[in-house]
Amino acid sequence: MIGIIGAMELEIQGLRARLDQPETSVISGVRFDTGSIHGVPVVLAVCGVGKVFAALCAQTMILRFPVRAVINTGVAGTLCSALGIGDVALASDVVQHDMDTSPLGDPVGMISGPNLVHLPADGALTDRLAARAGALGLHCQVGTIATGDQFLAQAERKLWIHETFGAIAGEMEGGSIGQVCYVNHIPFAVLRTISDGADGSAPESFPAFAAAAAADAVEIVDGLLEEMSRARAVD
Ligand code: ADE
Repeated sequence: MIGIIGAMELEIQGLRARLDQPETSVISGVRFDTGSIHGVPVVLAVCGVGKVFAALCAQTMILRFPVRAVINTGVAGTLCSALGIGDVALASDVVQHDMDTSPLGDPVGMISGPNLVHLPADGALTDRLAARAGALGLHCQVGTIATGDQFLAQAERKLWIHETFGAIAGEMEGGSIGQVCYVNHIPFAVLRTISDGADGSAPESFPAFAAAAAADAVEIVDGLLEEMSRARAVD
């Protein structure tokens, strides 16, 4: 079973509409929809915005459903000149830009425990999502995706995150879902279409472009599931 998590309804509803034999359960206030898409068993969840809800959802999903991989899909603000609105960011790794124990001598962003700043996403899953994005004619970049409990809307903060972590896109859940998957040894991918510039223009761009950007991410995930079903057919 593939787990798919979006923060907002608009990031998941397009996939939910494609579920065959849907079943819904609500656990800890999170709605989980199981079923299959193109014959591939999936569980879909809308986790809510921010790192705490994202972690709660990812851990619950892993404990309650037999997921062999988790994909976080949705939208993000761009942190680099190579990505504009409508383009696709895929995580080679995730960081948490608001994690900071540097007064104790640690690198900024270090996650205590694994003692890593960058938590690696699954390379094979990420490559497959990149190929699906390319097949849809979408411009795609693979790199670090930065997560924090902030809607990024200041050019200064955007530059700091880009320069400190080399991040290409910023959002509010991927790093948290990545951390939960990392400690549970579950492969994960973070797929984000760009809805805004993560600067002063973001409060206007985000509501204008989020729905269309999220719909493209849904098409990419759908393409991956279709490809997986074809691969299963020849197994
Ligand atoms: N998701 C989409 N745009 C974002 C932004 N500018 N900051 C944080 N999360 C986002």
